[in-house]
Amino acid sequence: MCGIVGAVAQRDVCPILLEGLKRLEYRGYDSAGIAVLNGNHKLERVRVLGKVQDLVTSLSAQPLHGGTGIAHTRWATHGKPSIENAHPHVYKEKIALVHNGIIENHEPLRQQQKQHGFDFNTETDTEVIVNQIEYYLRTGQDLLQAVFNTVDDLEGAYSLGIICTDEPGRIIAARSGSALVIGVGIGEYFIASDIFALLPVTQQFIILEEGDIADIQRDQLRIYDKNHQAVIRQIIISQQVAEAVDKAGYRHFMLKEIFTQPLAIAETLEGRLADGLVVESAFGMRAATIFDQAEAIDIVACGTSYHAGLVAKYWLEATAGIPCQVEIASEFRYRRKVVSRNSLFVTISQSGETTDTLAALELAKTLNYISTLAICNVPESSLTRASELVFLTHAGPEIGVASTKAFTTQLTALFMLMILLARRRGLTSEQEKGLVHHLETLPGKINLALDLNQQLSELAERFADKHHALYLGRGSMLPVAMEGALKLKEISYIHAEAYAAGELKHGPLALVDNDMPVIAVAPNNQLLEKLKSNLQEVRARGGKLYVFTDTDVNIQASEDISMIRMAPVPDCIAPIVFTVPLQLFAYHIAVLKGADIDQPRNLAKAVTVE
Ligand code: G6P
Repeated sequence: MCGIVGAVAQRDVCPILLEGLKRLEYRGYDSAGIAVLNGNHKLERVRVLGKVQDLVTSLSAQPLHGGTGIAHTRWATHGKPSIENAHPHVYKEKIALVHNGIIENHEPLRQQQKQHGFDFNTETDTEVIVNQIEYYLRTGQDLLQAVFNTVDDLEGAYSLGIICTDEPGRIIAARSGSALVIGVGIGEYFIASDIFALLPVTQQFIILEEGDIADIQRDQLRIYDKNHQAVIRQIIISQQVAEAVDKAGYRHFMLKEIFTQPLAIAETLEGRLADGLVVESAFGMRAATIFDQAEAIDIVACGTSYHAGLVAKYWLEATAGIPCQVEIASEFRYRRKVVSRNSLFVTISQSGETTDTLAALELAKTLNYISTLAICNVPESSLTRASELVFLTHAGPEIGVASTKAFTTQLTALFMLMILLARRRGLTSEQEKGLVHHLETLPGKINLALDLNQQLSELAERFADKHHALYLGRGSMLPVAMEGALKLKEISYIHAEAYAAGELKHGPLALVDNDMPVIAVAPNNQLLEKLKSNLQEVRARGGKLYVFTDTDVNIQASEDISMIRMAPVPDCIAPIVFTVPLQLFAYHIAVLKGADIDQPRNLAKAVTVE
């Protein structure tokens, strides 16, 4: 899973490729590389183990220049992170290739190629592609024809950018199962894994379709479909702007993004509320008709977005009275699903590029859902393009790999969805206005939660030497506890698990001792008394408790109980507000541990492989 970028232009393309890579680093950051055809049409390549910034540093000592080039930032799948395994991969000094995706039949191809005398220098699945192209070039084919034949031999997922010294000024690009866009400039063309990578150089894009192959030269673009027939693909003008993304004085993007949540939620609500009610068309032109028909909701997502779906289940069933199932996309896509009558299929995704979520959506389209709705942060993403209804969360770019503002804005969107569906099941305008009012108080409530920052940073010190943690919640606070545990493990590498508090006695209680901190998410709701009993069970076993609660909850702090008290929050929006101190807590623990907060080891922001 990786990011690729390429350019063919009259000017030196290296700065464009490096800026593109920086913007694609959310896809992986364990190695990076660039290859260009220089003024003498010779192939030059630089690769580094590490991040794009390391590549920039390396290039400042050893600059490259050229009008045709490709570049790559990697998240290792086949073969460890190393310079040898870093892209671009080459055949001799002749062909260079960047790949995002996984070639599933790389083993048999490798065996065949060995028989044809090809050598292998890497552990990657990608090297077979470059060899296969060379194999066809040797039969006298040109680069385009060789790529046609090569992709016919490939099984799996790929987006590719290929250059060759025999045909300088030409990039062949191919897409199957991994997103790829072409940026259209004036007398120049670009390719990239997403639009965002190319916004500094163009607003005009062609989104390649599945199976497309593009033959790109400075002054000419030809696109062929999966049957290798020439096709015309429409140019779209992106509305996105190439805003510079900086830390605005914060130590990390994650901290900035946590503190931006009041503003991000205000942006999510902006233009979506009128006269104290939710504006239905915020979900798309056909939203009203589809919501009228909906009798059940199936939500599918991954990671943090999946947790947002789990919170929504509590909301949709309790307030809208509509059955809701929530499933992880990688499971949904490979099982036989029974779809209830008049079900709406909902995906949630920050990036809109998560492969499992996209595949689940494609599967859902073959089932008898009434429609598809995407709740997504990235306009013009693969997910939004493939869904009938779309709600854009407008959270702004999220850079930290651990998702924060994307989650709370997704919840805000899902709360509005709940209102619209509840409206059809007896929610009165007065009741709706009450719920909307709570939504409007969210930025203020989150600001109050952010005031706990200093206290949480001090509390984190007691935690930094721990190896495990247990998070507990009940009801809609269970997914919030799950999200808190995910934040901790992602960025601090402390093993953390979340459990429904009532389930504690069925197993995890056996783990509790002096060294196992237990974090309870315990707002003042109708489950509080039940939860308090669960906390006593922990205390009785010598466990150390960290209780995130309201100021009016009657639990006394003591040697074994640390209290984090929030201003009282209405039950319905508590999952959103209580998420914030858990984010800060995880953040401060990770800082104390000296971890790479924004780019934690082994992870990536958008997972574009299975
Ligand atoms: C990756 C990210 C997570 C994210 C998940 C789903 O694992 O590291 O932060 O929650 O993908 O991503 P999506 O873009 O679909 O919300």
